[in-house]
Amino acid sequence: MPLHLGAAWYPEHWPESRWPEDVKLMRDAGLTVVRVAEFAWSSLEPREGAFNLGWLERAVALAADHGLAVVIGTSTAAPPAWLTQSYPDTLAVNEDGRPAVHGARCHYDVTSERYLYFCRRVAEKLAICFGHDARVIGWQIDNEYNTVSYSEGARRAFQEWLRRQYGSLDALNGAWTTVYWSQTYTDWSQIPLPVQGAHGFGQPHNPALRLKWRQFVTEAYRRFQHNQIEVIRANAMPSQWITHNFMGFFDGFDHYLVSEELDFASWDQYYPAGHLDFGRDSAGHDLTRGFKRRNFWLMETQPGNVNWASVNGAQDRGETRAAAWNAVAHGAEAVLYWQWRNALNGQEQYHGSLIAPDGAPRPIFDEIKRIGEDFRRVGALLDGTTVEAQVALLHSYDDRWALDFQRHHADFDPLLYLGSFYRPLSNRNIAVDILPARATLDGYKLVIAAPHILDEAIAVELIRFVERGGHLVLGVRSGMKTPDNALWPQRQPALLQAIAGAHVEEYYALHEPVPIHVATSRSHKPRGAQPAPILPDGRARIWAEWLVPHDDARVLATYGRANGYLDGQAAITLKQHASGGRAYYLGAWLDDALQDALIGWVTAQAGVEPVLPNLPAGVHAMKRGDAYILINAAEAKSVTLPWRAHDHLSGKTAKRFALAPWGVAVVTQA
Ligand code: GAL
Repeated sequence: MPLHLGAAWYPEHWPESRWPEDVKLMRDAGLTVVRVAEFAWSSLEPREGAFNLGWLERAVALAADHGLAVVIGTSTAAPPAWLTQSYPDTLAVNEDGRPAVHGARCHYDVTSERYLYFCRRVAEKLAICFGHDARVIGWQIDNEYNTVSYSEGARRAFQEWLRRQYGSLDALNGAWTTVYWSQTYTDWSQIPLPVQGAHGFGQPHNPALRLKWRQFVTEAYRRFQHNQIEVIRANAMPSQWITHNFMGFFDGFDHYLVSEELDFASWDQYYPAGHLDFGRDSAGHDLTRGFKRRNFWLMETQPGNVNWASVNGAQDRGETRAAAWNAVAHGAEAVLYWQWRNALNGQEQYHGSLIAPDGAPRPIFDEIKRIGEDFRRVGALLDGTTVEAQVALLHSYDDRWALDFQRHHADFDPLLYLGSFYRPLSNRNIAVDILPARATLDGYKLVIAAPHILDEAIAVELIRFVERGGHLVLGVRSGMKTPDNALWPQRQPALLQAIAGAHVEEYYALHEPVPIHVATSRSHKPRGAQPAPILPDGRARIWAEWLVPHDDARVLATYGRANGYLDGQAAITLKQHASGGRAYYLGAWLDDALQDALIGWVTAQAGVEPVLPNLPAGVHAMKRGDAYILINAAEAKSVTLPWRAHDHLSGKTAKRFALAPWGVAVVTQA
């Protein structure tokens, strides 16, 4: 596949007479692909059963005449007014039982059989029309799945799903400890939907019910998606792929499971916080690459500014190009801007676009055009390549949900905790795969995991990894819960105690940070062992676990004066295995400096190499195939490479390169 550059185009927003100016400018910008129709249902089926696809056929033809490939969105993210008026049961219902009001989007009930019927029909019409049209290269199902519906239908479907999961009410009651607060169910129809709002009167629902509900929502989206995939595959030629545009770390459903049926995953990246931050914004790319363990599309990103942040500031000159390259560096096969041109009215009038309503390019246009030139220069070099990482960071929706339901410390944000491992790796230009907790781990040197919900399969793979010589870092709250979100009767990390060589005696949410003293080589050093690491002392914040080391496990760090219980207890342990494998247990959420030093030390111990050594801070590097992609942040920098290199963007060959603010170089060894 070539490296694609594209945009979301909405021909239906404008009279047909204006389309030629669009596509001509798209060609001038160097776009190679457009995505169309993902919100066009009312134009495709203006009245129930009356389809009008002619305009879309003409738009596709016009795009193709200008050298653009087309991706079709199935349009089901925006049900038309006739549909929701005639069939109000297709509308999503909120937690308080109120149905959605027409006039925005994504207002459908994902569990509504009737809605699925209409979705299938419009997707089928599109597939029959375009499924053998070589100008259309692929399909996007719906757009950014997100809505959860608490309708009667959803409740019945949830109860039915639970019945299939558990088989009997006895099994469910047992696994959920429903006898607690007298929740015991004697009929499936009694099982409620977990609500937190007024209907819940402020009392939380059972943690198992809440977890299972999220899993059910996942299943509902899988079904919703399958319903459309089925009719597209039945009518489309095999070369047309099917994807969906996810929203990065959004946790409304389990993305690993929803991705299963797709050919590849896509995502939409925006920068509501303002500027590109490699240590934060690259994680969504690595996450999305991990959904299918393959390259992805960046289906949407912002041309300058969004319209929905608290301050919709524009990116700096050059930053949009740097961000596009960052996506490619992390495995994107395409970068598409949202959107090509603003509609005159509608909710997104203020959003960034490539051309303005008058049909003339905006200032960002030339920068995006330059990205197109870049992609043409290096497309062949990157073709067939992906990121190769020595580190895997495990991520699980079940864990995030369970932790979020019961943070125990308001600041215990599981995503920030994941980020506390990601950033130090990114700062060192160490490539990382973000993978599901259930992933096979062959080939990695280092795995970082905090499997809060632990089952046998996850434990077996982690144990196997260490027994084959891998280095494993376990984080706080590991091995605390079963797949039913019940407590494991064993102390943490439950099934991983033996491999970790430690267990948790007690856990504490911290009002105040607690000092951490890193062990010296003299203390806690078993005979013949290597000297202990030289790490700075630091602090535990938010969370601290009192660890009890087993047998020959080493204590790498202890707590200083704290609450009397934690004082002097082990905070970080290390168990060295005969295989050469290691397991570290980090019992505390460490402050940034200590976490950074620890990750530096742990990666060095595991023999993990950065993509390139000795780069100045602020220069991000990734590798795809033979190509090293260097991306600079806002300050001019100069980099010295270990060898003479050829920059395929500038054509220069040298050992030392000057990088302008947000500058990019794509080099291979000369
Ligand atoms: C995305 C959405 C697009 C557009 C964009 C604006 O979430 O998929 O349709 O609304 O946001 O930033």
